[in-house]
Amino acid sequence: MMDWTDRHCRVFHRLLAPHARLYTEMVHANAVVLGDRGRLLGFDPAEHPVALQLGGSEPEVLAQATRIGVEWGYDEVNLNCGCPSDRVQAGRFGACLMREPGLVAECVAAMIEGARADGREVPVTVKCRLGVDEDHEYERFAAFVEAVAAAGCRTFVVHARNAWLQGLSPRENREVPPLRYEWAWRLKRERPDLEVLVNGGIASEPQVQEQLAHVDGVMLGRAAYHDPYLLHRLDVALYGGELAGRATLLRRLRPYVERQLASGLPLKHVVRHVLGLFHGQPGGRLFRQVLSEGAHRPGAGWELVEQALDATAGATAVA
Ligand SMILES: Cc1cc2nc3c(=O)[nH]c(=O)nc-3n(C[C@H](O)[C@H](O)[C@H](O)COP(=O)(O)O)c2cc1C
Repeated sequence: MMDWTDRHCRVFHRLLAPHARLYTEMVHANAVVLGDRGRLLGFDPAEHPVALQLGGSEPEVLAQATRIGVEWGYDEVNLNCGCPSDRVQAGRFGACLMREPGLVAECVAAMIEGARADGREVPVTVKCRLGVDEDHEYERFAAFVEAVAAAGCRTFVVHARNAWLQGLSPRENREVPPLRYEWAWRLKRERPDLEVLVNGGIASEPQVQEQLAHVDGVMLGRAAYHDPYLLHRLDVALYGGELAGRATLLRRLRPYVERQLASGLPLKHVVRHVLGLFHGQPGGRLFRQVLSEGAHRPGAGWELVEQALDATAGATAVA
């Protein structure tokens, strides 16, 4: 999620959910080809399996960016057909591609070629909406999927609402257009050969379980960020294992944090992603407060995290 997640966030989420597939925020294909690859593509081996999400609509550039992503070691390359921002529309990519299935098919075909260049079988997948603006016919959505699947895409992550390209901010575009999970479920019924994942408004274990009765997987966005312990509970519920406490999980991040500090990264860049760990728990606000007030101070180190954990322990004792 642009402006929210980054590689440090993914390392933390990996500790919480060893079986989840993690996605990068969208990176424009041109930036991958022309920009600072270390900054844009660098990731920690702990993040595997990790997918690189690309934005763009030029088949040749997307093919190059895919090839580069695969060479950097990504396990999947995903094309964004869901972002509604004005900037993205102006660049003719993101959600407005829902209206151009032929072009998306060309892009996907080129990306699949690019992904083969390394000799590894790295899947090329698509994240899409149900449609844009006033598209209310399931058949139009199904035709989009059909065209893109014919180009070789086997996996669709469906953000199960339309994007309204005029008059709504990106934030409103994640809230206002109604969710229609039934379309994703129907797609899975009609095309059982495809892998269909649902995204949008899913924020609890019962909601995830309900979706899994109909589709192959679920993508969590905001809930995973605001309440990351949910990822751990889901991982244990779906794959087994011991439920670990929040403090135990956080302490597993210590070696990573210390490596980052030793390389000169200020603590705040990592700990901003853990602020929601005690979401809804006694002491959760204190935990956030201790970390957000202390982490930007020069020289802040792991002891601050221990102080924040002590604050929650104290709150639990009096709660
Ligand atoms: C701050 C922010 C940034 C986002 N950036 C991306 C992005 O880079 N790529 C993408 O596919 N979706 C992006 N999204 C959309 C989410 O992936 C997801 O589709 C949407 O929030 C609905 O799912 P949710 O209800 O689980 O959050 C972003 C969402 C937020 C809140």
